[in-house]
Amino acid sequence: MTVIIAGSPRKGMYSDRLAEAYKEKKENSIIFYARNLKGAPCKGCGYCKSKGNGICVQKDDISKALEIIRKADEIAFFSPIYWWQVTAQEKTVIDRLYAMKEDEWKGKKLTVVLNGAAEDDDKEFTLLKEQFQEMADYIKADLHFLGVGTTDDKAFENALNKLNEFIM
Ligand SMILES: Cc1cc2nc3c(=O)[nH]c(=O)nc-3n(C[C@H](O)[C@H](O)[C@H](O)COP(=O)(O)O)c2cc1C
Repeated sequence: MTVIIAGSPRKGMYSDRLAEAYKEKKENSIIFYARNLKGAPCKGCGYCKSKGNGICVQKDDISKALEIIRKADEIAFFSPIYWWQVTAQEKTVIDRLYAMKEDEWKGKKLTVVLNGAAEDDDKEFTLLKEQFQEMADYIKADLHFLGVGTTDDKAFENALNKLNEFIM
């Protein structure tokens, strides 16, 4: 199963459309729209790493999503780039994945598709890819990264083509 976490606050815009195009090509997949998940950021309390044994102390929509994410073969982060990062909505979900145990990450594929107003060859995509590679190495996952410019509708068409090639 592929779990897509869509990080745009803008419903139906470029990042959502990329995420939905990806979902269409993935047989067994679901999307969580981070903006719709009522949940708090990680508190760094360490409960999940001690007494909680992989369970987050906070009970909200994100902890419910986490139970499904645990069972996924692939986790796919789709997010617009805000200030050289994923959005706050996406990051909130990513941080809460801290509760997952090392063996629960095993064998998972990590897909990251980021879009921004920059041109496709902008340095930000290289930087972000390197950053997610570090994360993938840490959790021992295979990283599949795509960074695309979605400056306008024309650029978006190009981004969609790139996504289709990426899925192949
Ligand atoms: C707060 C904010 C920060 C942004 N920072 C960046 C950035 O660092 N790099 C970039 O390429 N685009 C940046 N953008 C542009 C968005 O990534 C771009 O508009 C994208 O298409 C938004 O995705 P969406 O259409 O799914 O909402 C920023 C936009 C906002 C609102």
